[in-house]
Amino acid sequence: MVLISHFVVALATLCSISFAQTDQVLQGAAFDPPSHLSTNKIIQTAISNITNSLREAIYTGTSRFGSFDSSTTSFSLTAVSQLDSSPIIDFHHTSGSLNVSAGSTSKVTGDSVYRIGSISKLFTVYALLLNNGTKYWNRPVTDFVPELRKAVPSSPYKYLSVIDAVQWDQVTVGALASQLSGIGRDCNSADLAVQDFPWTQLGLPSLAPQDIPICGINDDQLPCSRKEYFASYIQRHAVFPPYSKAMYSNGAYRVLAYVLEAITGSSYEDVVEDEIFQPLGMKHSSVLPPTAKGKGVIPDGDAGWNRAYGDEIATGGLLSSTNDLIEFGRAIFSNKQLSPMETLRWMKPKSFTASPSLFIGAPWEIVRTRSGITTGRLVDLYTKSGSVGAYQSLIILVPDYQVTLAVLAAGPDASAAAQTATETTIQTLLPALEEAAKEQACNRLCGEYFASIGASSSSLVVTVDDRPGLLIKSWTHQGHDLIAAGQAYANATRGGQIQSVRLFPSGLQTHNRAAYRAIFQRVVPEDDESSVRKVFDPAAGTWGMPDQLMYGGIAVDEFVFHVDAGKRSAAVEPRVLRAVYQRLEM
Ligand SMILES: *[C@@H]1O[C@H](CO)[C@@H](O)[C@H](O)[C@H]1NC(C)=O
Ligand SMILES: *[C@@H]1O[C@H](CO)[C@@H](O)[C@H](O)[C@H]1NC(C)=O
Ligand SMILES: *[C@@H]1O[C@H](CO)[C@@H](O)[C@H](O)[C@H]1NC(C)=O
Ligand SMILES: *[C@@H]1O[C@H](CO)[C@@H](O)[C@H](O)[C@H]1NC(C)=O
Repeated sequence: MVLISHFVVALATLCSISFAQTDQVLQGAAFDPPSHLSTNKIIQTAISNITNSLREAIYTGTSRFGSFDSSTTSFSLTAVSQLDSSPIIDFHHTSGSLNVSAGSTSKVTGDSVYRIGSISKLFTVYALLLNNGTKYWNRPVTDFVPELRKAVPSSPYKYLSVIDAVQWDQVTVGALASQLSGIGRDCNSADLAVQDFPWTQLGLPSLAPQDIPICGINDDQLPCSRKEYFASYIQRHAVFPPYSKAMYSNGAYRVLAYVLEAITGSSYEDVVEDEIFQPLGMKHSSVLPPTAKGKGVIPDGDAGWNRAYGDEIATGGLLSSTNDLIEFGRAIFSNKQLSPMETLRWMKPKSFTASPSLFIGAPWEIVRTRSGITTGRLVDLYTKSGSVGAYQSLIILVPDYQVTLAVLAAGPDASAAAQTATETTIQTLLPALEEAAKEQACNRLCGEYFASIGASSSSLVVTVDDRPGLLIKSWTHQGHDLIAAGQAYANATRGGQIQSVRLFPSGLQTHNRAAYRAIFQRVVPEDDESSVRKVFDPAAGTWGMPDQLMYGGIAVDEFVFHVDAGKRSAAVEPRVLRAVYQRLEM
């Protein structure tokens, strides 16, 4: 039986979460990302819980996230913060059925090589971005791939309707990269006609010989050559109009590699090796399986380790280790190759899915959870998963904490093992990261700030509580209560009741100053009936609040802390007051 799961997108099923927002917060991190995690008490406690839970799952073969046979399936899990050198967690399980005579390692580590399946797609887009890919984003693929150019106007297929044929001149480079092309998911690979199963006995028609694939990622077949591939692919029917909705397509990424090759004049393999793996020091990542003994994780049986991928490599053929994948995450967060602007532009959703907890980027699978998993503010996980042969893979980048988590598994239960490892880790780690971030932010910024101007004094007290953001507990300026001033304005403008004033990092900072924006969290009478279901979630309006109220051109919500990296702040400027408050040392 062929491995039906080729490249299937396997998303971890998260607990059902509520999307009605209660807190009015800014989107994104509520605090600066935490650092020095390996010596942080909150993180240490979380990691020992995770490690114990993983050991228990391996020992018993069950967990609340699934069951897997740890005697046949191995896995690796490594996470790191961009701000730290040592990993937060580095956990490996070696099953008893690795094929050492086939060259497998007998002890899995962070350098052990796995097939990463569709995580390859992340490298394909990254390679494109390194080569000015966004310049070509809105160009049709027909500008780069002659076979598809020929498949458009004056071709033998021109009589075909939009239902029968892809309008290739409307499929852009960006649509391919963002899974918005609407083109066929696969071509030849995993076709039922070549699987060892009695389809005709079960009622499907017998096929003409020319309809049965002769190449593809199938048992006993070789990958299709470029010529064979396009001969079949241009006959596949369109699935959706381009840009109408996200749809997982492996073919899109094979075509994207041809675009990359046309732009760079180099082979896909050379671009990935020379421009990514080599400069980022990803020594355990490659386009072909390492031949040296003891490098790879090769389960017994037909794991697909040595399968040839041909030009399907860009969609699912690369190999890597958890150490290398977290290095890749670190490179993204530290802007090693892409500028901050290019990175932020890339790490955004491009479309929705049918689920409110999954958005699609290029090719990010953006999973929305909460800082406390079922409670707290929304946290976006930028993920890419993969599944090929006996291998299951997942990389998760969490911009809010600058943390990368890589999970690789190999064996008959790779999918269940990866899901167990991922859920066990993320559900304990995320709340701990939020706590650690809050604690560190408070160590640096909480306290009383004070200014004495003439006879009157001014003070601002910053603290934290169990909600997101730094809380302004009190604020008086030259004897005037400024939160009451805000309330008076709210009263005059039907602005409701101010519940709290909270500061969120804006992302704008220099070596010694960091800008924050305040959210005046309010309850407006007509929004107060939280039991009444509203289509327009009142808290969703928060994004319109920053910078709204100005006084002489300076917004009332702008605060700048004077702080040297990692140190306690020395002062805060509520900029609307044109004043600087010094920290009151206790
Ligand atoms: C880990 O923490 C969870 C939640 O607090 C708890 O239910 C579980 O028992 C802990 N597991 C271990 C192995 O410590
Ligand atoms: C990207 O484009 C810029 C300006 O057009 C050019 O200077 C640069 O060499 C290009 N870089 C690559 C990698 O193609
Ligand atoms: C181990 O690999 C060798 C060489 O590829 C193969 O002949 C053998 O069948 C494999 N053993 C098992 C148990 O899968
Ligand atoms: C705002 O209005 C509320 C209720 O109408 C009132 O109790 C409160 O004193 C007012 N606050 C200010 C600062 O005007």
